[in-house]
Amino acid sequence: MPKNCGIATRGNPTSADAIAFMQAPTTFTIDPGGRLSGAITVPGDKSMSHRSVIFASIAEGDSEVSGFLEGEDTLATAAAFRAMGVSIDGPRDGRLVITGVGLRGLRAPLESLDLGNSGTAMRLLPGVLAGQNFDVTLRGDASLTGRPMARIITPLTAMGARIEAGEGATPPLAIHGRRGPLSAIDYHMPVASAQVKSCLLLAGLYADGVTRIHEPAPSRDHTERMLAAFGHAVQRQGDIVSIEGAGGLRSTSVEIPGDISSAAFFLVGASIAPGSDLRIKGVGMNPTRVGVVEVLRTMGARIDVDNERNAGGEPLADLRVRAAPLHGIDIPPSLVPLAIDEFPALLVAAACARGDTVLSGARELRVKESDRIAAMAEGLSLLGIDAEPRDDGMRIRGGALGGGRVASRGDHRIAMAFSMAGLVATEPVVVEDCANVATSFPGFPDLARGAGLAISVATGR
Ligand code: S3P
Repeated sequence: MPKNCGIATRGNPTSADAIAFMQAPTTFTIDPGGRLSGAITVPGDKSMSHRSVIFASIAEGDSEVSGFLEGEDTLATAAAFRAMGVSIDGPRDGRLVITGVGLRGLRAPLESLDLGNSGTAMRLLPGVLAGQNFDVTLRGDASLTGRPMARIITPLTAMGARIEAGEGATPPLAIHGRRGPLSAIDYHMPVASAQVKSCLLLAGLYADGVTRIHEPAPSRDHTERMLAAFGHAVQRQGDIVSIEGAGGLRSTSVEIPGDISSAAFFLVGASIAPGSDLRIKGVGMNPTRVGVVEVLRTMGARIDVDNERNAGGEPLADLRVRAAPLHGIDIPPSLVPLAIDEFPALLVAAACARGDTVLSGARELRVKESDRIAAMAEGLSLLGIDAEPRDDGMRIRGGALGGGRVASRGDHRIAMAFSMAGLVATEPVVVEDCANVATSFPGFPDLARGAGLAISVATGR
């Protein structure tokens, strides 16, 4: 528990709680030699799907969402708002109709809200809940229960919120209701984090005056764009984003594009597997998310962008990716926040590139769904790659990938990244503990198989 963050703590949940969240073990086996071709559409963007439910729930009137990600994480957010009295019809085929209850129309849930594996839900919801007049507790699975929450608790406490956390400022979070508004703050974020920024913008809706947030580096701006679509524009001046507490949100329709973070596995797979030529249609191309395309192109990848268009304030496009010889690079630290979720996939690309790739300035990867630096270094080494983990990144020397059994540590993105490594390994790659792929990419094995990945799935104890 950090001494200076002033966070009240309670004991962590018992191991029985953690066991209750465990799913049946799922293993992926990938036989070598595939190549990716044809045209695919990846599921809707996870960040935007969470936000669509949150904003529509606290807006006035009916909002329609299309392209919603029907993954476990985003369904947990929808279930949380249902439990607080919001009527949410769907999802059916990615469509939802949400009847918003206004900023102060939520009701106390009957029990604590289970957010599963979702860090985004655990960090964004407190921004809304800190402004309500009822108490609520947020909990999650074993991975989420280990993730740091001081980054939101400290500024929310400065705004007047009362939040109790587990040991080390981790979930569960007990958020106490209050009568009056929160107090607006001027806050310098210590880490570039869209989750923290979004949490504080949401809390700013419930504050008196103008809440100002200073970003140390640009992070994804879906909250800013979507708030504008819901009729509550935020102001941006250089690295400061600010929001006024007055007024509410107006219902609207939200069209969610394909998730570039899910497309990333296919961008890497098609780049490394000889003979690949794959189209990925309708991918979100928000400038704060396209770091993966920039890094891969710098490594020599052949990615074409066409059919560029706009939907609801967000750019999207079709991508065509063809196999190409990759070379190692020093990844510019400025691109790290713009590709933060794509490093598991990018490190597989680095393992297949000629020469060394160096990733630095990416300490945040240590506190994602798993310690992604440790997980990737361990798995790549096991497959025969020279991968040296560093405190804030990794050095990887490209080489020949062998087969083996790799631990995903229950992290969806580690599981999908090593699945793509299987395309070019000399022997089968077995990836353990893949059930959580359903948090962000339901249907991944089927979609990947259809595109040419020789993947099979085994479920059960
Ligand atoms: C997200 C922001 C990122 C990202 C996460 C989703 C969001 O986290 O890793 O998967 O939707 O705002 P940080 O804000 O911690 O960088």
